[in-house]
Amino acid sequence: MEKEALPHVMPYVLKEEFENGIGLYREIFKAAKEKKIKPDHIQAAIEYLSQLLGNVEERNPRSILVFYPELYSNQEYLIHHAVNTAILALLFYARLKKPHQETIEVSLAALLHDIGHALSNPDLINSPKVLTTEEKLPLTNHPHLGYELLKSLKLPDVVLQGILFHHEKFDETGYPTMLPASRIPDSAKTVALVDLYDNIASDRPYSKGKSPQETLRIMLSLSGSYFSPEQVARFVRIMWQPLCGSKPFLLPGMIVRTNFGEVAKVTHIFEDHILKPDIEILIDRKNKLLQKPLPIKMKNDLERTLTKIYDEDHSKVILEKIQEKLQSVQEPEFKIELITKDEKKS
Ligand SMILES: [Fe+2]
Ligand SMILES: [Fe+2]
Repeated sequence: MEKEALPHVMPYVLKEEFENGIGLYREIFKAAKEKKIKPDHIQAAIEYLSQLLGNVEERNPRSILVFYPELYSNQEYLIHHAVNTAILALLFYARLKKPHQETIEVSLAALLHDIGHALSNPDLINSPKVLTTEEKLPLTNHPHLGYELLKSLKLPDVVLQGILFHHEKFDETGYPTMLPASRIPDSAKTVALVDLYDNIASDRPYSKGKSPQETLRIMLSLSGSYFSPEQVARFVRIMWQPLCGSKPFLLPGMIVRTNFGEVAKVTHIFEDHILKPDIEILIDRKNKLLQKPLPIKMKNDLERTLTKIYDEDHSKVILEKIQEKLQSVQEPEFKIELITKDEKKS
């Protein structure tokens, strides 16, 4: 697994620190089940996160963020997930150089974002079967249940909003309120990013966790639907190095898609503008295969963004298909199905 092959540099978060977080959140989760969360629990979480932030800031800025995936029951999954997302949010804000208090608050929101699940059946969370509407109800209700559990504890609004709105989406199809994108609070947007990262990267009973690189690339492809393009691009840019180390995000020769639906080949990368490479458009926005590639400098182009990056193997297959098509037909119409079929397999 690529995840285990990460270089053994000093991690941002030590195993012992991670386990302390697990112990702490286990207590909070247990109290939530009995509806007995107290201010002391929250205070302990704030102290834990503050200490962690201090430690992280002192560490080697070029080190890798290491997660400690272990086999866990459904309930343990929720506990690991909470700590993972809290650490991710903490590191993201620390790297953005956000003020201390803001960083702790968003990390606390991430730690507590799924606390409402303490009141639902944990077996349903990892269920591989399609759930009935009745079974789904307590699951989709968890942001609200969490908010209700915590609102009497006088938590900052940022934390409560992060919990209540972490399943809202940029395209306004989220829950519980289908909030317009402009009204989704920043803390909720950040919790949504780290939540999805950990969901994709973690092993689940019905799917194997993806490598950090794959996870970030999948997240990028949700630009414009799940997340706003700026929001996800910033997350990928900031978190690529701590999660993926020196592995390249993009390489010349890789195939990408743009927000206009174009398919292009990367020709040059700029380290300081990783999401703005030079590209050559091979298939235009009307699905037309171009006889002559169209060079574009994305750095000079404010509207065009990347929405998908194919890995090297996949890029090779797509390029071969395009070559074949270019040589074999007079008609330059290119059916995009050729590519989407491959996408489905990945
Ligand atoms: Fe959730
Ligand atoms: Fe979650």
